[in-house]
Amino acid sequence: MTVRRTSMHGEWSSRMAFILAATGSAVGLGNIWRFPYITGENGGGAFVLVYLLCIALIGVPIMMAEVLLGRRGRQSPINTMRTLATEEGHSPLWQLLGWAGVISGFLILSFYSVIAGQALAYIVRAAGGLFTGITVADSKQIYAALESDPERLLAWHTLFMAMTMVVVARGVKSGLEQAVRFLMPGLLIMMLVLLGYAMSTGAFAQAMRFLFRPDFTALTWNAVLTAMGQAFFTLSLGMGAIMVYGSYLPKRTSIAQTSITIAVADTMVALLAGMVIFPIVFINGLEPTAGPSLVFKTLPIAFGQMWGGPFFGALFFLLLSFAAWTSAISLIEPAVAWMVENHGMSRAKAAVWAGAITWVLGLGTVLSFNLWSEVTLFGKTFFGVLDYLTFNVMLPLGGLFIAVFAAWLMSRRSTVDELAIGDGLGYETWRFLVRFISPAAVIIVFLYVLGLLPLISKVFEAIFT
Ligand code: PFF
Repeated sequence: MTVRRTSMHGEWSSRMAFILAATGSAVGLGNIWRFPYITGENGGGAFVLVYLLCIALIGVPIMMAEVLLGRRGRQSPINTMRTLATEEGHSPLWQLLGWAGVISGFLILSFYSVIAGQALAYIVRAAGGLFTGITVADSKQIYAALESDPERLLAWHTLFMAMTMVVVARGVKSGLEQAVRFLMPGLLIMMLVLLGYAMSTGAFAQAMRFLFRPDFTALTWNAVLTAMGQAFFTLSLGMGAIMVYGSYLPKRTSIAQTSITIAVADTMVALLAGMVIFPIVFINGLEPTAGPSLVFKTLPIAFGQMWGGPFFGALFFLLLSFAAWTSAISLIEPAVAWMVENHGMSRAKAAVWAGAITWVLGLGTVLSFNLWSEVTLFGKTFFGVLDYLTFNVMLPLGGLFIAVFAAWLMSRRSTVDELAIGDGLGYETWRFLVRFISPAAVIIVFLYVLGLLPLISKVFEAIFT
């Protein structure tokens, strides 16, 4: 059945505009800040391999599912899920999936903004020549000084949230396209400049072995869960961001092609970040397991040694902040679109509300780096709890339900109509992946991490022997 709904928020001007905006959403701190440090924490090669498999077998099919649902529903994820569920003869309670996404968006943006604030702070530090000729100890000290100062972190967090809300208030479509068009190539060029430096360090081969030679003895089930959560996060999946962007997508655009393009671009940036950071880690004797501060401790050393360091350093952190900005906008868009639809608010008012809630939540992360660093729950700080809850629980669960809805509850006719890749092999492959592979992968990893799989297999053994 062909559905002709239009979005009250308007449409992207072209297929390219959507690709740019969705790539802007996907490429961000997840690629440059998080991918390297979790790779370092989880032993390298085997983790990277699992991550790549998750992108291809879970990420791309679920991205297609999200875009498809968004474009068919043409509203905020909450209303899209309610409309589609009713239309396909299922419970309107499916809108809860939209609600879960809105909550994930608030939680993620609250700490995303604090980290993006650190990137903003580093623009100033780089431009001022603070990194010139620094040692490893100096670099650690510069980061520690920022991290331990709640007022500074708060000021940068506030600035970043204000920047985000200005764009959200004006409507994500105007301006975003132009910004991303220059930003993405710029970021890529900067990464290549850094790659040139990384190749000259003498530890490049060691870093490549670390990243691309899998050692499966280092792989745990928790690492697999982390890789899967990262695949969702880096592609902005499982919480409605790509769904809401899909709702602005013109009807005759190939969802499969665009999803693959976005996933490839995103993966390239993440791998490049790894190839830049690990040579610097190894040559300077830094710990690959340093955690969230890894990027901020390694790159300044490189900028401190290279020709034109203050300029390239400032430019790099500026581009990183931009990349974070285009992601942040999409994190809050599902909530804002809903407030506009259901409460008749102006975008500006909705943006202020959403921004205020996120800003307050962000205080927890600001403090967890310093004054509250000893306040823990299950051994995790406030930031640690948010990180675990969103990446390892909410996004994979969100993705699981999106896959189940698109592949099992939507009629075949509706999905064929939206995907428009014909009824052939391409469609069947997609359907097989979202029906069986993606949900099974998420469920198995969950069961393992919760320690339930051994229990279940014991039960089976008891029954069948
Ligand atoms: N994909 C972004 C990144 O890798 O930094 C983060 C993100 C944006 C996650 C939007 C989720 C989302 F909805």
